[in-house]
Amino acid sequence: MYKEIKPGIFWVGAVDWDVRNFHGYTTRFGTTYNAYLIKSDRTVLVDTVKHGFEDELFSKLDALNVDRIDYLVVNHIEMDHAGSIKEVLERYPEARIVTNIRGKNGLKEAYGIEHETVVVKTGDRLDVGKTLMFVEMPLIHWPDSMATYAVEDRVLMPNDAFGEHYASERRFDDEFSIEEMGIIFRENAKYYANIVLLYSNQVKRILEQLEKLGIEIDVIAPSHGIIWRGRIDEIMQKYREWSSGIAEERVVIVYDTMWNHTKDALDSVIEGIESVGVDYVIYRLGVSDSTEVMTDVMLSKGIIAGSPTLNRELFPTVAAFLTYMKGLKPFGKVAGAFGSYGWSGEAVGKIVEVFNQLKFDVVKTVRFKFSHSKAEGELVDLGKTVAERVKEK
Ligand code: FEO
Repeated sequence: MYKEIKPGIFWVGAVDWDVRNFHGYTTRFGTTYNAYLIKSDRTVLVDTVKHGFEDELFSKLDALNVDRIDYLVVNHIEMDHAGSIKEVLERYPEARIVTNIRGKNGLKEAYGIEHETVVVKTGDRLDVGKTLMFVEMPLIHWPDSMATYAVEDRVLMPNDAFGEHYASERRFDDEFSIEEMGIIFRENAKYYANIVLLYSNQVKRILEQLEKLGIEIDVIAPSHGIIWRGRIDEIMQKYREWSSGIAEERVVIVYDTMWNHTKDALDSVIEGIESVGVDYVIYRLGVSDSTEVMTDVMLSKGIIAGSPTLNRELFPTVAAFLTYMKGLKPFGKVAGAFGSYGWSGEAVGKIVEVFNQLKFDVVKTVRFKFSHSKAEGELVDLGKTVAERVKEK
């Protein structure tokens, strides 16, 4: 069923209850593909839905007696939002596309869509009975990404920004309990950590730009998850914090082990962290969900990585996670590393290489031959030193 979010502005998207893997990103609660309909002097559809969900979109448009669409705004060409454009244009061939130049080119390159298009840029307005204003948001999430702002209604439709993967029959943040909101904010952090984090400088610029443009917001209607109207200050504040690298007083330990030598060293590292009274969370990488691990990396001030050496290299699961993490460019972390080896012992140095590339503050490393027993004191000191620096930050 559609939902009216302001007079004449409706949610007409689709709920994907089943998806558990979204191009490699785990979605334990499913997701939604949010599209919005604006009915005024002109009828405007803002974004579509993932291919295969178009009937959900069309049933809502039918329920709203939509027999003509004047404008189809394409805020983002990724397949979860633009995947049904062909079907929409078949049904409503008179619709003119509204997008920026990168969106126009992307529609041609990715979908072969060449259709009458109104090309817009930041600050441009379109009078549809209501005033729509456009704000380019390149790289949040793709170069073509932009936001559409309904000026009189103060509704911002920023596509991927401020969203999270969360399927629900409820649409608005104020329909959820405090406990449920805790889960939703965690999903929002997960979304930021795994999709938006590497574009944090761009996020900061966009937040400033929204202010400069005088955009006042009653409703944030993103393209995934819930619609914000009761907790706008909170979600905006979280984006300010995450894009500035503000994190919690906690150490995340990521490790894997071959014959348990590296795992057995954990107790000493933990003893050191506990002696300072700092929280920690531990992930064994071979059995952990990388998207959850990445969320805790972003949310924590400290990281300690542990890996045995295998064939002069990192243990493969540790290498895979560090590669994934490096691409997302977390920043401002206090770091340490440890690991066992049999004869060559390169793993710890390779962890440090990654940490250095990310400009982490590497405060201590410990490597030990086979058993950690002779390095217990050093391992305790590793945990203690990282935790102390986290507490100072
Ligand atoms: Fe939800 Fe970048 O697409």
